[in-house]
Amino acid sequence: MEAEKANQSLPRLGQPAPLFEAETTHGTIRLEDFKGSWLVFFSHPADFTPVCTTEFVGFAELAPEFKKRNVELLGLSIDSTFSHIAWVRNIEQNFGVKVPFPVVADLNKEVASLYGMIMPGESKTETSRCVFVIDPNGVLRAMIYYPLTTGRNMREILRLIDALQTTDKHGVATPANWQPGDKVIVPPPKTTEDAEARMHAGLETKDWYFSKKSL
Ligand code: BEZ
Repeated sequence: MEAEKANQSLPRLGQPAPLFEAETTHGTIRLEDFKGSWLVFFSHPADFTPVCTTEFVGFAELAPEFKKRNVELLGLSIDSTFSHIAWVRNIEQNFGVKVPFPVVADLNKEVASLYGMIMPGESKTETSRCVFVIDPNGVLRAMIYYPLTTGRNMREILRLIDALQTTDKHGVATPANWQPGDKVIVPPPKTTEDAEARMHAGLETKDWYFSKKSL
């Protein structure tokens, strides 16, 4: 029962993302500030660590691609604003990459706890590598969790955004390993009559429940 209660308070897909106000490297930010844009809100274990540094370089390099898709980026770790500032300056000096997105300073773990970013089995003092995709209406649309020791694939996060935006725009689903330009899945019919009709609907149909089309 306790576990059920704890689970209920964690972010859930399809529900409004938990609201917060936090200090960041770009000043005070509230989740509501991102209304109208998509948001990729991600945590990293700690500043000045090697895997996290590669991830920040990766996010910074792909920031223009996220921007093209109306996606803002927001980082978080249980570090101070001063540490974040020193680290992003260090990344620019060492890797020649400017980090264009804000980073939440969550020393009191308030936002990390709200989003369930701390996995005590991994670390009680660091956030795991979590990604929350929040849509322009503030609804949580996707979550990804990676362990401390595995750097994420930013191209996969971009692909996830492309898939979500395509789904929303065209009322379709996307198959395994889908890439923009590939055929999409037409949602299966829900009645026997529609199932029969689907067989002659002019789609690429393998069986009544399995149809693809080009966009
Ligand atoms: C890293 O970013 O390199 C890292 C952080 C925490 C645990 C292991 C690796």
